[in-house]
Amino acid sequence: MNIVLVGMQWGDEGKGKIIDILSAKADYIVRYQGGNNAGHTVVVQNKEYIFHLMPSGILHKDKICCIGNGVVIDPAVLLKEINDLQKCGLHIGKRLKISTLAHVILPYHRILDQLRETKRTQKIGTTGRGIGPCYADKINRCGIRMVDLLNPGVLRQKLRDNLNEKNEIFKKVYGNPGFSFEKIYKEYLGYGREFGSSICDTAMLLNEAHRRRKEVLFEGAQGTFLDIDFGTYPFVTSSSTTAGGACIGSGISPVHIDKVIGVVKAYTTRVGEGPFPTEFSSRFGKIVRERGSEFGATTGRPRRCGWFDAVMARASVILNGISELAITKMDVLDGMPTIKVCTAYIYKGKRFTAFPHDFEVIKNAKPIYKEFSGWDKRPYKPSSYRELHPHAKDYLSFLKDHLRAKITMVSVGSSRQDTILL
Ligand code: GDP
Ligand code: IMO
Ligand code: MG
Repeated sequence: MNIVLVGMQWGDEGKGKIIDILSAKADYIVRYQGGNNAGHTVVVQNKEYIFHLMPSGILHKDKICCIGNGVVIDPAVLLKEINDLQKCGLHIGKRLKISTLAHVILPYHRILDQLRETKRTQKIGTTGRGIGPCYADKINRCGIRMVDLLNPGVLRQKLRDNLNEKNEIFKKVYGNPGFSFEKIYKEYLGYGREFGSSICDTAMLLNEAHRRRKEVLFEGAQGTFLDIDFGTYPFVTSSSTTAGGACIGSGISPVHIDKVIGVVKAYTTRVGEGPFPTEFSSRFGKIVRERGSEFGATTGRPRRCGWFDAVMARASVILNGISELAITKMDVLDGMPTIKVCTAYIYKGKRFTAFPHDFEVIKNAKPIYKEFSGWDKRPYKPSSYRELHPHAKDYLSFLKDHLRAKITMVSVGSSRQDTILL
């Protein structure tokens, strides 16, 4: 069974935790888009791991983890992740495979990302990791790929051409001195040597694995509403975060995908700028942020919080072909007297039940809420669906019916064991 797992909101839904659990049954775990703008948290035996590029299945000692062609790789970040994991006693060795075709983030991508953001009047809230500029170079056909780091001649020529153009832009547009060829060239050839034995044709590797009936789990990063096409553009990331991205970003044909699982928080969060119709007032937002520890796993920025937006979540189910839902952070709602779900928006007297992509509408839309009775915090963590408070079950039952997808997992805490399987 080949499963794609995607975030259904604006990222940070708890994908890392769910991937870790599903990895127990998979043979291969594949990141297929995004880069180290992602921060996927896995908590095992009270130890917290945050993965930025490494697939979140790596803690399972016998699994192969792939970074697919659709990912943009900052080699220094990946190297640090590998070293940190090895310091924790985790053996990675040949378990990590990196696509020859994955594009590489260079220092000029990172700096450009940050400089462009400072110049924008309407900021995106980028993580500043160079993701957007790296994908832009890929599409512009001047990107540098992992395979290029293995070939000094190719790297030299591409880097020279790029710096000739980019240094002019840095100087003239941004008043920045630009970059030294020698320094970058040496550093990146070094990464080529470091990663050489892991760089391979991951598309063929995965297709061969599929032929041998191995199970592949595709780990989406970010979330549906950060998708470059379907997200709240321009407040999005630069990759295809929806399920279709799994095929493009790995080289596995759509005919081999068996199921798409959506991960969704029991409420909504967003980091960075952009419209957020169900956002809480700043006072209530602060309370929920603290209860849910809603601070970015990559940048540490406070996450904006709001009620569950079923207009968005329903669009997610449709766009991704989601048949199963993993609902996370149910425990954060414990003890709230009332819980709300947005089922439609109103803008200028018009009611929207389908997600409106017009920025003006989303920015000014007033949510229409359905209210649910809250539930008290129990002295113990529920370990089965039966043990959930009846009001929590009502809430989940509504979400299941409204979103027209089965709930197969309910998460009530950050650890592996705080998970109810249905
Ligand atoms: P991802 O980017 O989708 O992998 O999510 P993040 O790791 O960025 O953010 C999710 C945060 O919520 C992490 O700190 C997780 O440890 C934590 N988390 C995941 N599931 C639950 C849950 O059910 N309850 C609580 N309280 N925390 C959770
Ligand atoms: P995971 O995989 C939440 C947001 C940033 C910013 C916008 C663009 O952990 O869910 P970028 O760095 O791509 O230029 O940022 O997207 N963003 C995320 N928000 N979770 C993420 O990843 C995110 N990756 C990017 O905050 O608003
Ligand atoms: Mg995250």
